[in-house]
Amino acid sequence: MDVDKLKQIKDTALGEVNEAPDLDAVETLRIKYLGRKGLLQDVMKALKDVPDEQKAGFGQAANALKQEVQAALEERKQAVSGDSEQATADAFDFTMPGQWRGLGSAHPISQITDRVVDIFSAIGFTVAEGPDMEDVFHNFDALNTPPEHPSRDARDTFYLDNGKLLRTHTSPVQIRYMENNKPPVRILSPGRCYRRDTEDRTHSANFHQVEGLYVSERVSLADLKGDIAYFAREILGPEVQVRFRPHFFPFTEPSIEVDFSCHVCAGQTSSKGCATCRESGWIEIMGAGMVDPEVFKAVGYNPEEVTGYAFGMGIERIAMVMLDIDDIRRLYQNDVRFLKQF
Ligand code: DAH
Repeated sequence: MDVDKLKQIKDTALGEVNEAPDLDAVETLRIKYLGRKGLLQDVMKALKDVPDEQKAGFGQAANALKQEVQAALEERKQAVSGDSEQATADAFDFTMPGQWRGLGSAHPISQITDRVVDIFSAIGFTVAEGPDMEDVFHNFDALNTPPEHPSRDARDTFYLDNGKLLRTHTSPVQIRYMENNKPPVRILSPGRCYRRDTEDRTHSANFHQVEGLYVSERVSLADLKGDIAYFAREILGPEVQVRFRPHFFPFTEPSIEVDFSCHVCAGQTSSKGCATCRESGWIEIMGAGMVDPEVFKAVGYNPEEVTGYAFGMGIERIAMVMLDIDDIRRLYQNDVRFLKQF
């Protein structure tokens, strides 16, 4: 190897470097020339075979070559990196479809609430709301709840330091609405309720109800039964059977409890029930009745002029029945794997 050979290597190297189209190519050339097994290493190794009198000149030329190639690589690197940013920008395709990140969905409690509201909206009900923090008058007194009634007990109801309480049902919304509006009334009140219940598979200290109230001239038990039957068919399908049982609530007279035939084993008259309906064939869905005249008096309505029906149902209960959920607590844990199913 001699100085001429070095010049030849230099020309080739600089030519190649100046043509390198991008950063990858520059790096490949850096390895080819300056790398540990690169061409310039071979040149340095060849130095020992160069005749003594040429060694100095060859060494200088070799160093110069190395520096020039290094400088050329550096320069080329700058040049193409600017180009490649531009190239990336040019290559960006604005018409390409974006990445779908997925939509959230309504919580089962909201889904069922919305469904109930939709069904009653279709027959003229509108939504009315009331405060979660209630007073004793609206939650109990005006609803004709006697002073000794167990639901008033501090072991069942959360009383607050300010003398108020957390509403134990959505029924006080009836009272508030009638206080502020003249009949006729046709409202639905969804919302949170609170009771001092110990949590288990079917109880939660915080749950949701939907209350309904219809007050007008000559509203009858037949209206109540008809509207509930309509609701049952809308929410569970045309096959569903409805059963009314006598019951007691302080705010209605007469009072009834309403069962729907079990949607899991229903329709089959031979069936004796299943796990969902606890072998009975029926599922308890709501309390209802004709508004007690005492309630009308409490809000300033004349019970001689108007009658009405009311009903109240637990949303969690309906969600558990309809969506086949075995433990009420799953509804509050916000486990996305669970919620995604609905
Ligand atoms: N408020 C009752 C409860 O929490 C449910 C209820 C029953 C509401 C009968 C009503 C009704 O409006 O008429 O258990």
